[in-house]
Amino acid sequence: MEIQWYPGHMMKAKRQMQEDLKLIDLLIELIDARIPVSSRNPDIRALGNGKSRLIVMNKADLADARVTELWVKQFGQEGTPVLTVDSRKKTELRNLRPLIRDACRERIERNIRRGFKNRPIRAMVTGIPNVGKSTFINTVAGRASTKTGNKPGVTKGRQWIHLGSGLDLLDTPGILWPKFEDPSVGTALALVGSISQEVLNRDDLAVTLIAFLVKNYPGVLGKAYGAAEDQGGPAVLDTIAGARGCITKGGEKDYSKAADLLLDDFRNGRLGRISLERPDDEQNGGAL
Ligand code: G4P
Repeated sequence: MEIQWYPGHMMKAKRQMQEDLKLIDLLIELIDARIPVSSRNPDIRALGNGKSRLIVMNKADLADARVTELWVKQFGQEGTPVLTVDSRKKTELRNLRPLIRDACRERIERNIRRGFKNRPIRAMVTGIPNVGKSTFINTVAGRASTKTGNKPGVTKGRQWIHLGSGLDLLDTPGILWPKFEDPSVGTALALVGSISQEVLNRDDLAVTLIAFLVKNYPGVLGKAYGAAEDQGGPAVLDTIAGARGCITKGGEKDYSKAADLLLDDFRNGRLGRISLERPDDEQNGGAL
């Protein structure tokens, strides 16, 4: 679902999040492994102050494994546990519980000291739209999970999924807004398909992607489309249009169709595993 973020929507999402945060011990923050900077909500640190946290780098199957490793190291240095997953696959979530126990160690020990030996850890999933929150919850919850009814005054209308072994998950994810201040964030989100590309000109978007790929993943466009990579974006689009038969009714090459095709190939991993953001981008002047 596409959400248009106006200040009113952001305030409402923030209020909802603040309410839900009162109910939980652990924030599971989903980010897109291909764009860890742009898919991260800027206010999450302040919002989740005092809560245990776990970062899930989702869609890791589409990201460059070497770059993902760099991110894991970086988040580790910041002291936040990280899980990298394709959350459509249950097997990839096997490390979730040990990581949650690590992230919540202090809370678990405090509960035991206070005599609440069996008090479950309560967690909620947060993230910007399309990052994979519902997929993650569905996979984690699986078929074996049970949803509880409302407990007025305790859950405030929220429902919990009992995952067993001392873990409860709020069944509704917290939807966060992306950070809009930086124009490259809009480009990154549009490239991975998390905001409507209509916001941006898709030909421009495709040309941006081509420049990025030529610089950071040389050979990819040549292999996929037989494109000469040193010719510039419009020439590469021209090659793609020719190679894939993108022709208008008038018999001309259809560059917008070629742009769509390229963007679709990228989003679906057909160009290989590609990360748009690296931890050292700032030193390199930003890649996108
Ligand atoms: P949201 O609740 O955060 O808005 O996201 P949602 O789970 O709806 O996921 C958005 C899209 O991302 C879905 O694809 C979903 O299948 C895909 N997705 C989620 N996690 C992963 C992952 O780890 N790897 C990959 N490759 N894709 C993932 P869709 O095309 O919108 O729907 P569908 O065609 O899969 O049904």
